[in-house]
Amino acid sequence: MSNTVIIGAQWGDEGKGKVVDLLSAESAVIVRFQGGNNAGHTIKVKGKQTILHLIPSGILHDDKVCLIGNGVVCDPYVFLEEVDQLAAQGVNVSPERLKISKKTQLILPYHKAIDAARESKLAGKKIGTTGRGIGPCYEDKACRVGIRATDLTKPQLLHDKICHALQEKNALLTGLYGQPALDAEKIYADLLAIAPRITPYLADASTIVGNAWEKGQNVLFEGAQGTHLDIDHGTYPFVTSSNTVAGNASAGCGISPRALDRIVGIVKAYTTRVGAGAFPTEQLNDTGEYLRNKGFEFGATTGRPRRCGWLDIVLLRESVRLNGLTDIALTKLDVLQNLPALQICVGYEYQGEVIQYPPQEEGALGEVTPIYEEMEGFIEDISTCTRWEDLPDTVQAYVQRIEELTGVHVSLVSVGPDREQTILR
Ligand code: IMP
Repeated sequence: MSNTVIIGAQWGDEGKGKVVDLLSAESAVIVRFQGGNNAGHTIKVKGKQTILHLIPSGILHDDKVCLIGNGVVCDPYVFLEEVDQLAAQGVNVSPERLKISKKTQLILPYHKAIDAARESKLAGKKIGTTGRGIGPCYEDKACRVGIRATDLTKPQLLHDKICHALQEKNALLTGLYGQPALDAEKIYADLLAIAPRITPYLADASTIVGNAWEKGQNVLFEGAQGTHLDIDHGTYPFVTSSNTVAGNASAGCGISPRALDRIVGIVKAYTTRVGAGAFPTEQLNDTGEYLRNKGFEFGATTGRPRRCGWLDIVLLRESVRLNGLTDIALTKLDVLQNLPALQICVGYEYQGEVIQYPPQEEGALGEVTPIYEEMEGFIEDISTCTRWEDLPDTVQAYVQRIEELTGVHVSLVSVGPDREQTILR
């Protein structure tokens, strides 16, 4: 028996969806514990692609229970869209196997309106959010005025809370941001209209996970975004609004930290970032362009082109420490094919010194100079390799160097988007 947490070790988009999908096969319960539909998890099975933003990627395995934990922010309209999309593909999305914690906070239209208005006002200082209302929804939770999924069963409470929230939101939208006021009654009526479709999914997620743990069943904790987008430990303020590190798997669904056994960090063989913020190994040149095109590095949620660069071990070292990684799943290794040489950033020069971990002061990451180690590139097509022995020596050397530099075993190597394009070690 082993419970597994899957987290992104970089800035998100590491390919978590595929690994969650693979490891779901061995799990009884799959739970998302943070973030919302700012995520975009792409899963390809036998050539057929599915992109999920909110519902756990494990849903594609028929016999698994999938939970949206209390730490997630859930847009109820997006939830229903995904339910309908999956149902149309023949996936079983009945409430028997898909559940939302009663304590999950709901993203409502005013959260999205504030997210968009704030970003448009921040000319030159934009975070580059996904515009899904994530930050404003977490703000309301911390401010103790959030609307929780269970409130859908109490119309009067729901009405009161929406009216109360809109007093403040409308003052902000109209007064500060010059936007039209939103109509509380409409938001309430629209929500009440979809409530009968949502309420059958409400559940006590904490007890379900706890019972599975007690019975010795495997639970998979599906992280979203990446370690360096963590609200506390990421490249603040260019971060998301939740804790993306493995420790939040416990609080974000209501289970003891003792339940977390294995912690897999998903690492892309190079680095990408979406939105603003420092990116020391970014390649604003042909290499970056090559990685973007070959790796199809365009956001699954917003379609934005991702910024691309070399693998950064300094960031990974910190991810290893913050998450306590037990192993690494290395993804998109095939994308590096045909690059004449591969650079790995092994340290930073900062204020005249060589440092091994990212500096902590705001903006300091933008002032470091990466120190690179060069490795031989490869020209072979590795996308059909299914065994470690099939990989060329140069590729094996690259993977082994990552292990040496991070001190963590690479247990899985992904050489293409399909389930089958995976090497287990
Ligand atoms: P938010 O989460 O929409 O508030 O966006 C905050 C920052 O996190 C922005 O830079 C986004 O591009 C980034 N971000 C949020 N979700 C993801 C993701 O799933 N992958 C990559 N970046 C993300």
